[in-house]
Amino acid sequence: MRIVSAIQPSGRLHLGNYFGALQKYIKVQEEGQALFFIADLHALTTVRNGQQLQEMTYGLALDYLAFGLDPKKTILFRQSDVLEHTELAWYLATVAPMGLLERAHSYKDKVIRGLFPSVGLFAYPILMAADILLYRADRVPVGKDQMQHLEIARDLANKFNTAYVLGYDASDPEGTKEGNAPGILTLPSPFFMKDESIVPGTDGAKMSKSYNNVIEIFADEAIITKKIMSIKTDSSSVIEPKDMRVSPIFALLQLLVTPSEMADIEESCRIGGKGYSTYKHRLLECFYETFRTVRQRRKELEGEKGYVKNVLNQGAERARQYASSTMEDIRKAVGTARK
Ligand code: TYM
Repeated sequence: MRIVSAIQPSGRLHLGNYFGALQKYIKVQEEGQALFFIADLHALTTVRNGQQLQEMTYGLALDYLAFGLDPKKTILFRQSDVLEHTELAWYLATVAPMGLLERAHSYKDKVIRGLFPSVGLFAYPILMAADILLYRADRVPVGKDQMQHLEIARDLANKFNTAYVLGYDASDPEGTKEGNAPGILTLPSPFFMKDESIVPGTDGAKMSKSYNNVIEIFADEAIITKKIMSIKTDSSSVIEPKDMRVSPIFALLQLLVTPSEMADIEESCRIGGKGYSTYKHRLLECFYETFRTVRQRRKELEGEKGYVKNVLNQGAERARQYASSTMEDIRKAVGTARK
């Protein structure tokens, strides 16, 4: 099984990235050949400072390693080190209907939030599809917010296969029925956990680097305390029952405590008698119980520049082998292969 995913180095790693992505990376790296990369080309749609991008790219490599992604097994690399990502994105762009991208929520949301509406931001799902299809991924561990992007990747694989593979039938992508041919590009499936949902930020909206509502995993203690203590609540008094839908504290606690503790929390909300600050303090404790070791490990890795660079270079070397094999088939099909 081929597993592919990525995180943008456009800010520091937060709880949404952990529960939506990294936690699953750690789990699935044992289940097949995983390729996890740092999506620096994607981050160019928001980051306009070269040095900052370099630093955040290095920072994300530290995050991956601190969380225990194992470079001996898993391929860890930087997107821009494998040029085939942008080449495949162009081929896909030529079969991508405008309407498909116009329906993408993420572009509209980002523009409403004030991001510059560049062609790059609009075409972002095409590059993401290329990232996945280039490695013929079977599984893509992502958070629920990426669902539509995954559907677009599947759609584009189908469009490409239909355009270039004689006998390809979109209802039989592997070509198992008599007379049908398999596609050149594999249709990927998302990988979600049972009952997974989007992780809310401190204001209750989706936790996102661009919304200033994140709880960063590797921030200084003072900042983490401030962020958790500032989580949105209502003005109900200590003795009043708490409506768990009002404050994101409870959705965040649910991610970090055991089911039996969560049942106790639910009960205490129902009967009242505990103020929001009690729950916030518990969240703070849970945060450190979960992340103390990785925070420590990341600190230790910080000085190991040579090692980290080496991991990324070797990862890129291995990723290129997969990429060039797919591209050979693609260039042959579209007519750009060297004769
Ligand atoms: P990015 O960098 O925004 O987020 C990285 C991963 O974290 C997940 N995530 C969340 N999950 C749940 N709740 C949240 N609040 C939350 N915030 C972020 C995302 O779902 C993602 O899995 N386009 C992608 C990066 C990308 C990619 C790819 C992913 C580029 N190429 C190829 C998979 C395959 C993105 O912007 O993720």
